Amino acid sequence: MSLSWTATATDGAARAGVLQTAHGAVETPVFMPVGTAGTVKAMTADAVRSTGARLILGNTYHLMLRPGAERVAALGGLHRMMDWPAPILTDSGGFQVMSLAGLRKLDADGVTFRSHIDGTPYRLTPESSVDIQHKLDATITMVLDECTPHPATEEEARRSMEMSMRWAARSRTAFVPRPGYGLFGIVQGSVYRDLRLASVAALTAIGFEGYAVGGLAVGEGQETMFEVLDYTAPALPADRPRYLMGVGTPDDLLGAVARGIDMFDCVMPTRAGRTARAFTSRGVFNLRNARFADDPRPLDPDCGCPLCTRHARAYLHHLFRCEEMLGPMLLTWHNIQYYQDLMRGMRKAILAGGLAAHAQAVRARWAAGDD
Ligand code: GUN
Ligand code: ZN
Repeated sequence: MSLSWTATATDGAARAGVLQTAHGAVETPVFMPVGTAGTVKAMTADAVRSTGARLILGNTYHLMLRPGAERVAALGGLHRMMDWPAPILTDSGGFQVMSLAGLRKLDADGVTFRSHIDGTPYRLTPESSVDIQHKLDATITMVLDECTPHPATEEEARRSMEMSMRWAARSRTAFVPRPGYGLFGIVQGSVYRDLRLASVAALTAIGFEGYAVGGLAVGEGQETMFEVLDYTAPALPADRPRYLMGVGTPDDLLGAVARGIDMFDCVMPTRAGRTARAFTSRGVFNLRNARFADDPRPLDPDCGCPLCTRHARAYLHHLFRCEEMLGPMLLTWHNIQYYQDLMRGMRKAILAGGLAAHAQAVRARWAAGDD
């Protein structure tokens, strides 16, 4: 049997549940740290695991360029290579081709592009993307899609979405089912209700183990993103996991979980960690700021990570000022811990039927600041 998701509680539109996979169980709502190139940047696998993370994301695009899907397969797959025996979801590559690769050419059959590293030409089709994700040993494979750029006219968005739906059908055919593995479809349709609902109808007619909402957090703003979720999430099958791709800030996560989303990924906590930006229960800080030079307090008194339990803010400030690599390492760890704690808090609140009050309390703490 393919991977499955079971609800354990609902609270308004929000759901708590468990994803059962070949590589173990994952409680939802869940945030996936991004491990683009076979590593969550600046973190050992043990460190990622210690934060409570049980599902990470990898990228077809980066891994097909380096080291190549065959090499990953020869090393026993992505889990084995990374020492991450828990589940891994891989994105299909289309989105990364559009944001990173040079000389892209999209046609009805797939996309041709040049590597952003050395200009070597490559091609991705729905079939080859699914095949690469199989070689990587992805627990969750994503269909190849086009993330419709924003803004798009309704006609542009329709053409793009309809192409993604044809690619989704081809991805389904190419995917070889295995027990505890699964394939997720991706809803497109930009900011147009009729297109989003048509996309949901097309995907549910094909049938997937889970459904992602793509094409969001591309410049439309949080209010518009929430509007799209307000009509898209309820249209998706209630018994399948829902994944909002590439989102987001802690506040985005609170709002999207309340609207029925179960899974997230974003580079935000890892990228911010490398640039001295800290997500905390008291809001967002930049640790390069001079106000932290003599600050003896823990970064976040509510956090149990090694940074917050063993060091002063002033030490982290010093590490970033000196460009020491321990700065990005410790702050990435903290930010991942913060995101995992945020998700755990929401899961607990949903089980207790108090998500709205919980979210309000979390936001009030951010707004109150730290002095
Ligand atoms: N990551 C963020 N948005 C998207 C999307 O629309 N499609 C894919 N494949 N990945 C994404
Ligand atoms: Zn911490």
